[in-house]
Amino acid sequence: MNYDEDKLISHLLLSLKNYNYETYKHSIRVAKLSYNIANAMQLDLKEKITIYKGALLHDIGKVMIPINILTKPDKLTDLEYDIMKLHPKYGADMLEALTPLTYLIPTVLYHHERLDGTGYPYGLKIIPFGAQIVAVCDSFDAMTNDRQYKKAKSAFEAIQDLRECGVKYNQMLVSALGNMKNTNTKAFEKNNENNGIAI
Ligand SMILES: [Fe+2]
Repeated sequence: MNYDEDKLISHLLLSLKNYNYETYKHSIRVAKLSYNIANAMQLDLKEKITIYKGALLHDIGKVMIPINILTKPDKLTDLEYDIMKLHPKYGADMLEALTPLTYLIPTVLYHHERLDGTGYPYGLKIIPFGAQIVAVCDSFDAMTNDRQYKKAKSAFEAIQDLRECGVKYNQMLVSALGNMKNTNTKAFEKNNENNGIAI
């Protein structure tokens, strides 16, 4: 563990917590789930920690999104959605300036890319594995928690939806998540006060 690095991550998370508590809680949940999936994929410890830390900061760029857009209770307009979609790039820009954390940029920058090229910001079809893991866990967490204008789905329904998305998501990771649901219910414990956000 690098003290400076962990201190920077703590400071960034504290900023996120103060700016929007729901996004902070979502980030913590996604990080735990991403670590569990990385573990199920038998990645080595260094990779697992990189994915965990990248997942903790995957939405850090949301501190640059106007709060009225971030917490809007209704569906976003096209323009607001375009602004919201800047958050992976904003997050990467923040980490670019923090030398010990630059190795986390791929996870942050590419967590909304999709394997069929329909994601953003670049429409990539080749995506770093850590970002693929965070993408699955991020979407799962968003679906299984109440959002401003959508009710939470059950873990079973969310996994069905991720399966139906086909090539958008790495289906090996979706299966790992499904298996985890059967074998490790703790990873799916419902948090009644949460309000996942993954835009
Ligand atoms: Fe995001």
